[in-house]
Amino acid sequence: MIIAIDGPAASGKGSLARRLAEHLNYGFLDTGSLYRRVALAVLEQNIDPKDTNAVIEAAQNLIAVLDQPYDDSALRSDNVGQTASIVAQIQEVRDLLIQYQRDFPLQALQKGIKGAVLDGRDIGTVICPEAPIKLFITAEVEKRAQRRHKELQSRDIQATKPEVLAEMLERDARDQKRLDEHLAPPRVIGHDVHIIDTSDMTPDEVFNHALKIVTSH
Ligand code: CDP
Ligand code: CDP
Repeated sequence: MIIAIDGPAASGKGSLARRLAEHLNYGFLDTGSLYRRVALAVLEQNIDPKDTNAVIEAAQNLIAVLDQPYDDSALRSDNVGQTASIVAQIQEVRDLLIQYQRDFPLQALQKGIKGAVLDGRDIGTVICPEAPIKLFITAEVEKRAQRRHKELQSRDIQATKPEVLAEMLERDARDQKRLDEHLAPPRVIGHDVHIIDTSDMTPDEVFNHALKIVTSH
């Protein structure tokens, strides 16, 4: 059983995915963290994110150590998020990360875990188009910026609200093509994507709504 969860930044997809996975005892993969790890490597090695060949090389080097533990908190800054959305536009980088993501549910199964929840931007369209459950989580950009600002504050990361909103708009623009694919005619993903607008929902409400969809399958 694969649950594919996609949506724009700070829509609430990550916390929902994690909670569903815990509740169902499924494996969980935050695929954004893969792009963030490429971005962090690029920043640490002073590579220009627009230097495609150097970024691809950094991504190739990362593939070898993807299974090793890493410091998640280092990945959460806006700078890493922005850089992630730049390197994610390089098709070769996306191709390098595809296999790891596709193998994840299988690896979970081999460990006796019966399902997997993956969250990102292209899970229901590219990584696991065969997933029986696809959720598209969205929210108004102002709400998403508010949430992200609060989150950054709680981590003692300095950023003003207008800065966070501007960053969110920039990232949305870069991610738009992939996000639009979810809402494209059924030939792309079938009729089965459930769209949840979380603008006026609490995380509990989102979770309960999503769980109903999952259990009804
Ligand atoms: O948590 P948030 O939604 O802010 O970002 P993320 O999921 O950690 O992803 C960071 C960036 O990686 C996104 O802005 C996308 O550009 C890229 N990404 C992607 O292209 N495809 C994915 N499956 C996941 C992330
Ligand atoms: O993974 P993504 O970037 O889509 O979002 P997230 O990390 O799950 O959520 C971003 C922030 O919004 C977190 O601090 C959540 O607790 C919060 N949130 C919220 O306030 N209301 C919701 N309905 C969903 C998430």
